[in-house]
Amino acid sequence: MIQREENVKKERVVAPASDTAEFSQFEQTLRPKTLTEYIGQKEIKRNLTISVQAAKKRKETLEHILLHGPAGLGKTTLAYIIGNEMAASVKISSGPALERQGDLASILTNLSENDVLFIDEIHRLRPIVEEVLYSAMEDFAIDIMLGKGPSARAVRLNLPRFTLIGATTKMSLLSSPLRDRFGNVFKFQFYDIDDIRKIILRSAKILECKIEDAAAQRLAESSRQTPRIANRLLRRVRDFAEYHGANSIAEKTVEEALHSLGVDSLGLDEMDRMILGTMIEKFKGGPVGLNTISSALSEEEATLEDIYEPYLIQLGFLERTPRGRLVTERGYHHLGMEIPRHRQTQLI
Ligand code: ADE
Repeated sequence: MIQREENVKKERVVAPASDTAEFSQFEQTLRPKTLTEYIGQKEIKRNLTISVQAAKKRKETLEHILLHGPAGLGKTTLAYIIGNEMAASVKISSGPALERQGDLASILTNLSENDVLFIDEIHRLRPIVEEVLYSAMEDFAIDIMLGKGPSARAVRLNLPRFTLIGATTKMSLLSSPLRDRFGNVFKFQFYDIDDIRKIILRSAKILECKIEDAAAQRLAESSRQTPRIANRLLRRVRDFAEYHGANSIAEKTVEEALHSLGVDSLGLDEMDRMILGTMIEKFKGGPVGLNTISSALSEEEATLEDIYEPYLIQLGFLERTPRGRLVTERGYHHLGMEIPRHRQTQLI
């Protein structure tokens, strides 16, 4: 019987979302500042390098940019890099933080020429606030109402030319009028293990801690192809090495740390295994609806969908089908189980 451990929910070392202020501080020291320093996402980097160089040559503002893809892959980092490359300052906000039209209007009217405005979770903007963005993005102007009742009148305020960078994990929830106003749309992919390994080596150097090649490789394999998780695990492993008084991180230290954190060779933790295990034990491996899995695990649907599923799908352990979620043959094998006969015939 699969039991949900209490500590699973409290702290999740392989969560892609950024968490404590302390970790954020740590993360910031490791953030690359330029496109050259940025590892991975080659296609985005190539296209952005061209756009940045061209805009600089023409002394123009960069076109609006939409970044989409799973959490933790570096969308905010890239927004800061773009600001830095354009010698512009970056203002940060998010869809849920902009509750009223006035919240957005006050940010927009305080921008300077060439500034970058980064709006995270842009799919969560309320329609009434989103509407303000349309003219701001297209005409660099907003219409504000002065007065109330019959004497109310609209006044057009011109804005400085700025670059909006929108980020979303849910492209499908973005309205098409908003999507169409972005000149560049970039999709973030999970990183290659080799790029994660390079990120770990770079971070270790910044932190002035030595790490053996085999240890970096092993850590990379368990980092869920996500830089933020790689850096967080590196920090934990560094603590283990320090505790042992070692002056370099060895492979066995990585193994010890991962084992104690409940993270396996592919970066799955207790909760990931529980999702797959519950689907297999209680629902014959699926197809089973997300709401049913959510009830069985007492976990919110949105959390399952946004936080846990992307990597399980990336590994090919889970499939989203029109009839519900399905554990794949690979998923069974990872848990050391054989796929049942009825599913084998179904797959043929
Ligand atoms: N740290 C976090 N993400 C990074 C990246 N993509 N390249 C280099 N260092 C990073």
